[in-house]
Amino acid sequence: MASTRGLNRAAILAIAVAAILQLTAAQTTHTVGDALGWLVPPGGAVTYTVWAELQTFTVGDILVFNFGDGDQDVAKVTKEAFKTCNSTDPISLKTKSPANFTLDTIGEYYFIGTKDEHCKLGQKLAINVTSYPGPSPSPAPKGPSTYTVGEALGWFVPPGGSFFYETWAYDKSFKVGDTLVFNFINWT
Ligand SMILES: *[C@@H]1O[C@H](CO)[C@@H](O)[C@H](O)[C@H]1NC(C)=O
Ligand SMILES: *[C@@H]1O[C@H](CO)[C@@H](O)[C@H](O)[C@H]1NC(C)=O
Ligand SMILES: *[C@@H]1O[C@H](CO)[C@@H](O)[C@H](O)[C@H]1NC(C)=O
Repeated sequence: MASTRGLNRAAILAIAVAAILQLTAAQTTHTVGDALGWLVPPGGAVTYTVWAELQTFTVGDILVFNFGDGDQDVAKVTKEAFKTCNSTDPISLKTKSPANFTLDTIGEYYFIGTKDEHCKLGQKLAINVTSYPGPSPSPAPKGPSTYTVGEALGWFVPPGGSFFYETWAYDKSFKVGDTLVFNFINWT
């Protein structure tokens, strides 16, 4: 009986932990290039490719570009414009640091610097947002349950008499559709 109670406590704890995790699965802020910031990277475009590979982007996250106003800017562009470093008519252009972009949908996002040859020299970033945050917001309705009579001890003549199974059943609420499993040894 003690082990049965322990089992229920473990289940309640698991549910509580899951609820807390769900609450803390909030938006993440990604600072592009970390301490390096947003500039023409010394190592070329691979610098931001590697940075992006180390991140996990989730819908609702925020990208922050830190740069020197005037010397740099950041434009959100199409995939085509990203490939060719075409800064004519970008989707949006931000010239003040920090420039924040909220990743509001699943999909690919492309950013370039529009100053001089900055994009061609490697000031370009492509990211891929592939997931929604946290576990699904509405848990599936609870279906029928399966109960193993006597848990690991199974179905046998219990040492403590019928009290053993009364105790096992005491804290359970059985519903129509639930399944009871009786495990016992077949003496053939
Ligand atoms: C750059 O993009 C603009 C706007 O989409 C387009 O009109 C122009 O032809 C593009 N230039 C090149 C060289 O691809
Ligand atoms: C951009 O994000 C940074 C870091 O979270 C924050 O300090 C700043 O206030 C934000 N700026 C704007 C304009 O939202
Ligand atoms: C972005 O992720 C999706 C889904 O995983 C994938 O189909 C797509 O090819 C990725 N795009 C890039 C540029 O990696």
